[in-house]
Amino acid sequence: MNFAQTPTVGFGADGTALELIDQTLLPGRLEVLQLRTQPEIWEAIHQLRVRGAPAIGVAAAIGLYLASLEIDTQDPAAFLQQLAQRKAYLASARPTAVNLFWALDRMERVAQAHTGQPVARLRELLCQEAQQMLEEDAASCRRIGEYGSALLQEGDGVLTHCNAGRLATVQYGTALAPIYVAQEQGKRVRVFADETRPLLQGARLTAFELHQSGIDTTLLCDNMAAAAMKNGWIQLVLVGADRIAANGDTANKIGTLGVALLAHHYKIPFYVCAPLTTIDLDTPTGEQIQIEQRSPEEVTTLWYRERMAPVGIKVWNPAFDVTGQELITGIITDRGIARPPFDRSLAALFEAGK
Ligand code: MRU
Repeated sequence: MNFAQTPTVGFGADGTALELIDQTLLPGRLEVLQLRTQPEIWEAIHQLRVRGAPAIGVAAAIGLYLASLEIDTQDPAAFLQQLAQRKAYLASARPTAVNLFWALDRMERVAQAHTGQPVARLRELLCQEAQQMLEEDAASCRRIGEYGSALLQEGDGVLTHCNAGRLATVQYGTALAPIYVAQEQGKRVRVFADETRPLLQGARLTAFELHQSGIDTTLLCDNMAAAAMKNGWIQLVLVGADRIAANGDTANKIGTLGVALLAHHYKIPFYVCAPLTTIDLDTPTGEQIQIEQRSPEEVTTLWYRERMAPVGIKVWNPAFDVTGQELITGIITDRGIARPPFDRSLAALFEAGK
């Protein structure tokens, strides 16, 4: 199997499955899963077989379409009621990335807007909507890449955290999209990828996909970013987002806040890259963003041959942290770059699309 030709997430060949790269096996094994049942899809999102805010959203949309095939009624009202139950189940897989809820809400709205139609037609509309989200995500990331690449100069060093690349989206990625577009434009950029403890999305996924694409990439342990910045190797930080509040506060992979503070200290521009689907104007500030807590074993045992911490030790394992808007230079979206004050610039980007 060839990674370059394997979509991160999409419809399975017969249209009755959710197809995705099992990211828990990378970089060692490239395996594609065909998922049909709701528990399988829930587990894939919860266990990070598919991960990254935009990819989770698209996977859930396809998942809800597949759920609609299981609903055994011809009564549109009963169909909508059962669809709502399945939507709530998929939405419970992870709490932080707003794309999950955004995608499921959008799917439900399509069905609700056609309540008078036969169930077969509602299924058809759900299928079309999920397909459209796939296509829109790829186009949005491409635009982020185009806006972001304008900030990159030949020879720049870019630091990134977690994986906000093509493995986190349908194509291109968010934070890595400017790097891919710069490469197409013939600009040479060096990337420094934080390993991203505890799940190693940087080491396993970002380093993997950049290396596959022939981009000059250096892997750093998370505690090396300060030294790399002090050495003058980093001209720009690009990270993704799981949810951006109306004031610009940004939830992203745990460790992002530390990188932002370092960038501030060394006066290095710090940009968040995300489609508008990750901006949640209903969440006023980062204070209201629910942060997922994950199991202690991810820290104590997961990557080790033997347990690396005493049995019974307390472990804190939040999956995300919130970077305050005051540390963010700009937010590179699919509709342009928002600059402070973000409460105004983000609202203006939404207005511009109306
Ligand atoms: O827990 P994960 O791997 O889903 O966390 C992913 C991130 O934090 C990404 O940076 C974010 O979703 C942006 S993806 C384009």
